[in-house]
Amino acid sequence: MVEAKEHAIWTEKYRPQDFSEIKGQKEIVARVKAFVEQKNMPHQMYSGPAGVGKSTLAIVVAKKLFGDSWRQNFLELNASDERGIDIVRVKVKDFARTKALGDVPFKIIFLDECDALTREAQQALRRTMENYTNTCRFILSCNYSSKIIDPIQSRCAVFRFKPIEKEDLHLIVDRIANEETLNVSEKAKQALIDVSEGDCRRLENVMQSCTAISKNITEDLVYSLASVAEPKEVKEILDLAVSNKFVEARSKLIDTMLNYGLSGIDIIKQIQKQILDLDIDNRKKMELMDKCGEIEFRLTEGSDEFVQLECLLASFTLAGSS
Ligand SMILES: Nc1ncnc2c1ncn2[C@@H]1O[C@H](COP(=O)(O)OP(=O)(O)OP(=O)(O)O)[C@@H](O)[C@H]1O
Ligand SMILES: [Mg+2]
Repeated sequence: MVEAKEHAIWTEKYRPQDFSEIKGQKEIVARVKAFVEQKNMPHQMYSGPAGVGKSTLAIVVAKKLFGDSWRQNFLELNASDERGIDIVRVKVKDFARTKALGDVPFKIIFLDECDALTREAQQALRRTMENYTNTCRFILSCNYSSKIIDPIQSRCAVFRFKPIEKEDLHLIVDRIANEETLNVSEKAKQALIDVSEGDCRRLENVMQSCTAISKNITEDLVYSLASVAEPKEVKEILDLAVSNKFVEARSKLIDTMLNYGLSGIDIIKQIQKQILDLDIDNRKKMELMDKCGEIEFRLTEGSDEFVQLECLLASFTLAGSS
């Protein structure tokens, strides 16, 4: 067991096992914990970005309700599997046929990635939820609750998860550094928090891949493994552009993208974050923000990356020279 843990991926190794270990999401955890204490709960919907504790909370609920027999009473399905809602119906039917073990009057069905279901599939899901309400509680998980039809939302207690705050990410970094005996410089910690953007899974994965290279985690190592350019390099590109050095800015942009293996979308997000720190007047900053939004949209629609990025850089140069 200890052996197995040594090689485990950290997102599993450091997955909270109890309500008290879940960072952030305080109000959600308190309400859900109360359901568990009463051994009674409504259907629930957990919505929010990746890696913030949605699946983790569902598993903790099952462990607390069912103890050692949680696996028999907890069915985890992914709504975005190829066969979609049909497979969900068959599996739910099978699972719901037998009663829950122990003194809890229902079993739990955890349905991940519900926003991948079409509206028709969601209608089918709604009927399935109604059919098995006596024996099962559903916990639905999605990134965007706006993609879920109202009749499902109205049958659930809806909980909106937030990105994990910097202080909590800091605690997670410190804990892992301590348990894995890593040496993480203060700048590297900031870099880890920066690249994770509130996503604990990403934080833990980047840390683990750094460790495969060195137990001394530095800022440079973090940025190179996270496929994120160092913010100061992006700032340099933009400073060149606004000081009328378009050609230099363009070649540095291309070098940076190749060096870190970044796509146009990746780099645009980083460019956008630096705009407020540029040495130009406020109105121009706002125009550039607007431009970033437009270029980002064009890229998601499949426009040529380099044409679009040059267009964006040109806007920076124009903003700097007028
Ligand atoms: N709130 C949290 N507190 C502590 N660790 C967390 C938290 N959220 C996530 N983690 C860490 O990140 C890993 C992934 O989290 P989880 O599976 O709960 O993400 P999720 O919200 O379900 O994301 P997705 O939408 O991608 O399914 C966990 O195993 C755990 O290690
Ligand atoms: Mg999940």
